[in-house]
Amino acid sequence: MLNFSFVLTLFVLFFVSENALAVDKVFPGNSKYVEIISDDDTICKSMVQAQGYACEEHKVTTKDGYILSVQRIPVGRSGKTGNKPPVLLQHGIFVDAAPWLLNSPEESLGFILADNGFDVWLANTRGTKYSSGHTSLTPNDSAYWEWSWDELVHYDLSALVQYVNSETGQKLHYVGHSLGTLIALASFSQQDKLINLFRSAALLSPIAYLNQIQSQLTKDAAQLHIAEELYSLGYYEFPPAWDILGKILETICNEPDVNCSDIMTALTGPNCCVNTSKAGVLLKHEPQPTATKNIIHLSQMIRTGTIAMYDYGSEEENKRHYGDSKPPVYDMRNIPKELPLFLGYGGRDMLADVDDVKALLNDLKDHDKGELFRVYIEEYAHADFVLGVNASQVVYDPMISFFNLH
Ligand SMILES: *[C@@H]1O[C@H](CO)[C@@H](O)[C@H](O)[C@H]1NC(C)=O
Ligand SMILES: *[C@@H]1O[C@H](CO)[C@@H](O)[C@H](O)[C@H]1NC(C)=O
Ligand SMILES: *[C@@H]1O[C@H](CO)[C@@H](O)[C@H](O)[C@H]1NC(C)=O
Ligand SMILES: *[C@@H]1O[C@H](CO)[C@@H](O)[C@H](O)[C@H]1NC(C)=O
Repeated sequence: MLNFSFVLTLFVLFFVSENALAVDKVFPGNSKYVEIISDDDTICKSMVQAQGYACEEHKVTTKDGYILSVQRIPVGRSGKTGNKPPVLLQHGIFVDAAPWLLNSPEESLGFILADNGFDVWLANTRGTKYSSGHTSLTPNDSAYWEWSWDELVHYDLSALVQYVNSETGQKLHYVGHSLGTLIALASFSQQDKLINLFRSAALLSPIAYLNQIQSQLTKDAAQLHIAEELYSLGYYEFPPAWDILGKILETICNEPDVNCSDIMTALTGPNCCVNTSKAGVLLKHEPQPTATKNIIHLSQMIRTGTIAMYDYGSEEENKRHYGDSKPPVYDMRNIPKELPLFLGYGGRDMLADVDDVKALLNDLKDHDKGELFRVYIEEYAHADFVLGVNASQVVYDPMISFFNLH
């Protein structure tokens, strides 16, 4: 992801710790921080109120029945209420909203936005721990996992944006990381009426084109059709189980061009600024599962270099779903030119790599000049945009100035 890489990394982390392998292969020197703690608390209780902030738990039901949990931080530490612009934070794959709140309040985007006068709403994607409800299914049903990011675009994003808009009566700013950027870009490219509910969007580690992805581990997983294999074996939730994950990793790590001694780096790139002392808290909340079909969809993008809907793999099946033998394309050139966009990308990001971001920027070359703001940080990799201890100075400050202009 994507956040993907980050997510994968996290779940790899989890796997490594569970199997008593050296955790410091992943976070060198910090194995003592890794502990697996059961966590029955809500995100509001354990992460937001624990820092002295007000927090509300909300539930949003999508048109296809998924019950999403959303946390709201309505006021910052100043306690100032009043006319606050809402901002929706959408995480990437394999995580939930917790990483936005993981560092200190001075370092974490969720708190920084609240302290800067925003009404903060934190999304949790379907299938993650706090968003595993459904009106008629449970995660034990294979049908529960029958979705890819297409459904996140058409159901989750639209339900969340409409909910926040109706609760606040205001248009939203949006912050996405990794997969959270792809679903927004795909939605914007469709030019439907949802776009009128956005004030602006900040896209961190933007994921659009994926075929120049630098992470060899992720590339190999796609080329080996690992997700397709799992799906055909009846594993609809990803990862299916930690022992199977072990076999997957073993296969990938035996590829001659992959060095698995630093999995976090192999997946996301060399993050400069992640506080490794936070590994224990991170592992309390992450990794989170996703649908195997979602991984297949991302693998298709890595292999084909297109941004299209899920490919059912046969002309007949595609015709049945789309009325066409090929899945419809999300054309990034259709994103409205006047939509204010902030792109934050890093020189060492191995998932949202610079060449793929450049391909996206090329599609946006006719965007209104004043409405496309870019922040490029040479030393940042994928996870730094959410967990970097100095992301506040290098990314969030310019982002907040950008929001305040819109
Ligand atoms: C799912 O299956 C497990 C194991 O069979 C069971 O313990 C759990 O209660 C089930 N969950 C739901 C929501 O049905
Ligand atoms: C793999 O990476 C580790 C840590 O960066 C390094 O010490 C080791 O030499 C590398 N192994 C290979 C085979 O490149
Ligand atoms: C890293 O996390 C530890 C543990 O929470 C904290 O004490 C330390 O101040 C953090 N370092 C930075 C640079 O934020
Ligand atoms: C962020 O912090 C890291 C670690 O302290 C440092 O190496 C890096 O130069 C900082 N980056 C920026 C852009 O300030």
